[in-house]
Amino acid sequence: MRMEGHFRGRITKDGIRIHEEADFAGMRAAGRVAATILDEVAPLVQPGVTTEALDDFVRARVAAHGAISATIGYKGYRHATCISVNHVVCHGIPGPKVLKAGDILNIDVTVIVDGWYGDSSRMYVAGEATRKAERLIEVTHEALMRGIAAVRPGNTFGDIGHAIQTHVEANRMSVVRDFCGHGLGRVFHAPPNVLHYGRPGTGPVLEEGMFFTIEPMVNLGRPETKVLADDWTAVTRDKSLSAQFEHSVGVTAEGAEIFTLSPAGRFHPTWG
Ligand code: MF3
Ligand code: CO
Ligand code: CO
Repeated sequence: MRMEGHFRGRITKDGIRIHEEADFAGMRAAGRVAATILDEVAPLVQPGVTTEALDDFVRARVAAHGAISATIGYKGYRHATCISVNHVVCHGIPGPKVLKAGDILNIDVTVIVDGWYGDSSRMYVAGEATRKAERLIEVTHEALMRGIAAVRPGNTFGDIGHAIQTHVEANRMSVVRDFCGHGLGRVFHAPPNVLHYGRPGTGPVLEEGMFFTIEPMVNLGRPETKVLADDWTAVTRDKSLSAQFEHSVGVTAEGAEIFTLSPAGRFHPTWG
């Protein structure tokens, strides 16, 4: 008979791993490194910088923190970040593109620390955002936080999606359907798919010890996306601006623990 090891957590009928109390420490450490790197890159986001320079910086900081990039080598991806500018919805590839004043961008970093995955992304602005870009960023951030507020044992994943969708649509913006959040832990992407829209009371029931991301993508225009010929970059079909924020969370007895809170208090571009 095999000895019980690190994986003695139960798996629910929906295929979702229930982690142990001690596993929260691993996620805290990984989440803190991801969040710290997103803090550290913030001052570099300025008009004139290239997205590959931001990626180079992040790659160096991942190593400096003694962590491993989860994205380098993942399905052939070669970068430490995804950087999604303006109408890019997600999975933007860092490159020679030079940021100009008024560009808004999401930087997404996933690190592995002692085998645990920390996955987070935020919005940044090169110079000053327009009013409508500012509103998009604000609504997207609030949608994420309302989704997290719906995390507690006994609620369902549909409750999370509903909280996000309701806030976004009340502001006449749209939730992207083509990408979702995901379970994570000692793996990058695990069940369930965390949808950012839905109906209350539907979907798997949340239990203490589940770890997953919530990462809503919100468009100023229509929700439809398409993937460019590079097979990664997802853009809005109508070219409207898109924003995204992502936290890695764990379900506790009382609600959610956010593993990727900003140590510097600068998760939102208008903070810090
Ligand atoms: N970090 C992204 C997520 O939130 C996944 C990026 S995969 C990559 O799930 F290969 F594109 F980097
Ligand atoms: Co993610
Ligand atoms: Co991510």
